[in-house]
Amino acid sequence: FTDPPKKGRFAGKKVLITAGPTQERIDPVRYLTNRSSGKMGFALAAEAFQDGAQVTIVSGPVQLEAPRGVEWIRVVSAAEMFDAVMSRYDQFDVAIMTAAVADYTPKKIQEQKIKKTGDEHMALELVQTEDILRHLGHLEHRPLLIGFAAESERVVEYAEKKRVSKQADMIVANSIAGEKGAFDSDENEVTLVTASSQIALKRASKQHIAQAILDAVHDMLKG
Ligand code: CTP
Ligand code: CA
Repeated sequence: FTDPPKKGRFAGKKVLITAGPTQERIDPVRYLTNRSSGKMGFALAAEAFQDGAQVTIVSGPVQLEAPRGVEWIRVVSAAEMFDAVMSRYDQFDVAIMTAAVADYTPKKIQEQKIKKTGDEHMALELVQTEDILRHLGHLEHRPLLIGFAAESERVVEYAEKKRVSKQADMIVANSIAGEKGAFDSDENEVTLVTASSQIALKRASKQHIAQAILDAVHDMLKG
């Protein structure tokens, strides 16, 4: 990857971004996943690089082009994403967690394809994954931490709860209610929730939203 522009407002800063879904293997032909295109994270990466930051993306499987100048670490599962972030977070000034991480993963990966049994019902035993954002939030020395929250109701209220419980500096809350959701779209409508403010942004391109998020990050780094 190439060096970022030397003059931008994030010159000398290192930004870590998680993006996309994770895939949790069930057996050789099946997995559990989340809906996520990765576009928000990749837009943030491109904008942060333009602003002079050295950027690393840790992403699950996505159908996107590598943003110019950005280091890209590809993972598949939530456990792999956790390890990729935990092994390098201490080199970063800012961490932005846009990934739609699976909350649960199969307790055991079946080595052979699971066959129908003739029973009408079947149950899959799942265990919780590690929460990467929460883990970082509770460390003593950690980067400035930005999380996302996709909510279908009481968007800002739930986002604020997540901010406090995960000890993030800011949560970007977006509503997935109705058809105006964020999935696969090039646009998004979000509220930036911090300890001191709740700023609702107009529906805009993910590039524009990325710039607004980075404006807030820039202010927080200064303050
Ligand atoms: N997150 C994470 N690791 C996980 C789960 C979530 O880092 N295992 C991060 C996401 O990247 C996001 C934030 O936590 O920045 C909130 O994710 P979200 O799914 O909205 O919240 P959860 O705490 O998982 O709660 P729930 O899904 O029950 O609403
Ligand atoms: Ca979740």
